[in-house]
Amino acid sequence: MNNQILKTFSSFDVAIDLGTYKTAIYVRGEGIVLEEPSLITYRNGNLSPHDIIAVGDEAQKIQGKEPMFVTTVKPLHGGVVEHLEATQVMVKHFAKKAGLLKRFRKPNILISNPVAISNIERRAVRDVASMIGSKSIGLIEEPIAAAIGCGIDIGESRACMIVDAGWGITEAAVISLGGIVHCESERVGGELIISSIIEYFKKHYSLVIGEKTAASITDVLSDADCKFELEMCVRGMDVGSRLPCLRKFKLEELKAVILSPLTSIIRTIRRTLENTPPMLSADLIENGIILTGGTALLKNFDKLIEDQTGVPVRVADDPYRCVVRGGGIALDYLGRFKSA
Ligand SMILES: Nc1ncnc2c1ncn2[C@@H]1O[C@H](COP(=O)(O)OP(=O)(O)OP(=O)(O)O)[C@@H](O)[C@H]1O
Ligand SMILES: [Mg+2]
Repeated sequence: MNNQILKTFSSFDVAIDLGTYKTAIYVRGEGIVLEEPSLITYRNGNLSPHDIIAVGDEAQKIQGKEPMFVTTVKPLHGGVVEHLEATQVMVKHFAKKAGLLKRFRKPNILISNPVAISNIERRAVRDVASMIGSKSIGLIEEPIAAAIGCGIDIGESRACMIVDAGWGITEAAVISLGGIVHCESERVGGELIISSIIEYFKKHYSLVIGEKTAASITDVLSDADCKFELEMCVRGMDVGSRLPCLRKFKLEELKAVILSPLTSIIRTIRRTLENTPPMLSADLIENGIILTGGTALLKNFDKLIEDQTGVPVRVADDPYRCVVRGGGIALDYLGRFKSA
């Protein structure tokens, strides 16, 4: 990596990818020490300690089965903090579980955030990190972290393009000489894919299915060996009788259903390509687009982008973890990133 760009002033101890879908924590010298769904379950709309029922993995087990007065929420939405207090409680719980407070008295935290967020939304990210009792907080833009995380030398003058497609937000960024040249964002990702599937079964099969069931279908669609001609069974509740029931469908049917959210993502990518200075376009054709984020795992999504943009696309290794891995690699390079 370019030493000038990645000059070390001092070190961060911890990198956090605070995602709409999952939160991941990386500790310098150790790697990823925690990765759990960004979820919290609490009672009576109250976030005091004795009303918190579950967080992360435990909240996911409860989600959709809650008794009255108990709710499970995703405290982030569209890539940003929506419910500040719930996010703070959730992150504090994760920090404790990951042993951060035992390892470091006051950890220096590098936290990733989308490029396209307002100052208020950025302030909320800092407020969340400050709950851990951090000494200093640095912010790193997610496409930069994703690029570092998939092994790109971001200091090079040859441009690269990262498309980070997560749960709540997709960002398509062109990076050159260690910075973002142009970035387009759209608050669309896995969440819209899941809600489109739920809507499809309601409309065409009179079947109400839950988020977990729809997610298990997208897992099948993400399997490299996925055979679209396969017939599958799905369980849910009949809209009319409200009784549990089972329906058969072909995976093939869902291709058109998920096409609409995927098209929104592709429009975002095209806008970035259209706004890339011509000097850098040649690099993009040569280097191709690198796809990161959990939504990159959808089978044939890379080919669809290639067809619609004419630019080669490669799915990063372990795309789901590129941002936190990149934050981890960047831990030693504080000077490169803004101190909050
Ligand atoms: N192994 C997997 N196979 C298929 N999809 C997966 C896999 N792991 C995660 N996903 C999907 O990835 C999506 C979440 O992506 P990701 O973790 O990148 O989001 P996030 O970073 O939390 O959200 P955002 O960046 O939008 O705030 C979900 O739709 C989830 O279903
Ligand atoms: Mg993300």
